[in-house]
Amino acid sequence: MNAASLILKKRNGFTLTNAEIDFFIDGYVKGQIPDYQASALLMAIYFQGLDKRETVALTRAMIASGDTIDLASIPGIKVDKHSTGGVGDKTTLILAPLVAALGIPVAKLSGRGLGHTGGTIDKLEAIKGMRVELSQQELVKQVKKIGIAIAAQTGEIVPADKKLYALRDVTATVENKSLIAASIMSKKLASGADAIVLDVKYGDGAFMKTTKDAFELALLLTEIGNGMGKKTVALITGMEQPLGNAIGNALEVKEAIETLQGKGSEDLLELCTELAIQMVLLSGAGKNESAARKKINEALQTGKAFDKLKEFVKAQGGDTRHVENPELLPQAKYSHKILSFQSGYVKMILAESVGNAAMILGAGRMKKEDAIDLSAGILLHKKIGDAVKRGDALATLFSNDKQKFKASEQLLVNAYHFSKRKIKLNPLLIGKVSKGKRTFFEDVRDLK
Ligand code: URA
Repeated sequence: MNAASLILKKRNGFTLTNAEIDFFIDGYVKGQIPDYQASALLMAIYFQGLDKRETVALTRAMIASGDTIDLASIPGIKVDKHSTGGVGDKTTLILAPLVAALGIPVAKLSGRGLGHTGGTIDKLEAIKGMRVELSQQELVKQVKKIGIAIAAQTGEIVPADKKLYALRDVTATVENKSLIAASIMSKKLASGADAIVLDVKYGDGAFMKTTKDAFELALLLTEIGNGMGKKTVALITGMEQPLGNAIGNALEVKEAIETLQGKGSEDLLELCTELAIQMVLLSGAGKNESAARKKINEALQTGKAFDKLKEFVKAQGGDTRHVENPELLPQAKYSHKILSFQSGYVKMILAESVGNAAMILGAGRMKKEDAIDLSAGILLHKKIGDAVKRGDALATLFSNDKQKFKASEQLLVNAYHFSKRKIKLNPLLIGKVSKGKRTFFEDVRDLK
């Protein structure tokens, strides 16, 4: 077996055997297969695809490239959650304490981010003193004690994905459903949860641009999860504009805190509630959707979820004063308001452009070595459907470097599109995939 013959086979549209897929992943992780051959194979896969059996084999081979986490000693059903990514997505910061407050154990491994903003781990580091590098023993011990821990993924979990994802990122081979599914599910399955809730995004700010593609990806992801004995459901949700109002690490932490205090933006609260419902149902902590919803609303309204956030921050060495008073979180030296040139209704906010505008301000990384400015980012004051008058503030930019405002402003202004007429908002929640069945929620069949 050799890499060149695998590339040729896939390029010509044939399927690879499980042994060939194992050979590729093992050889690539060990450095025996060079980047140029791996890139060629990824591009052949991008064009020719992988069938379901090949995708499952790839997922298994990727899991086998590293360690798996054992959470079996933690009592209860551990439910993990994953989002396929989007701009302003701070749901983990809200969901984890919210479901933990209902007695569902949360033992979560999260990543740092490449792209518009940092990942959950970077965001948590905006809270002074927060320790995110936990050993497996520490993670398990903390979950047994207080029901929640979030730690940085270590290098030993799915090293194949680390290497492959970095290569895909620079070879235009990210947006292939099989590669995305194997990448996501290998990490989720290696992380030891008993059940998984997936938030599969569609829209301008997502990998999947149409609901059709998002449903297909959701089917593949759930099939892999269920096939490997983990109950897996997926919600299909919109990323037609950034989620919530804040984009940027400390700004997102502040918005997450506000949401747990019942003061967050509506779309963010709606999405977190729906994802939490699925987590409650999979954990067995709620009989049906309405019972789960009631419990979730109660945890938010009574402050139980917010208290759990404080308990979690304290357990990981964070300064809880920053949670009680988010003004203490890192603040940028400079801010700059973007005013609207026109009147009308906001019709579209290109999420990807807003993400890039935040990255220019210092909120994200272009390369993994880049440093993040935790205080940098954007606060949106207008979202789709809002009425705008000429001169109204659309957004505020934050950065420690004034020079960055000009390029960021340009992107942000171009991200906003207006209509003279009132806009009918597309629903945030498009549908669900569970047990191989897709369900569309009302009124959304005519979406692209
Ligand atoms: N998120 C991942 O973890 N992997 C992908 O390939 C795409 C999104």
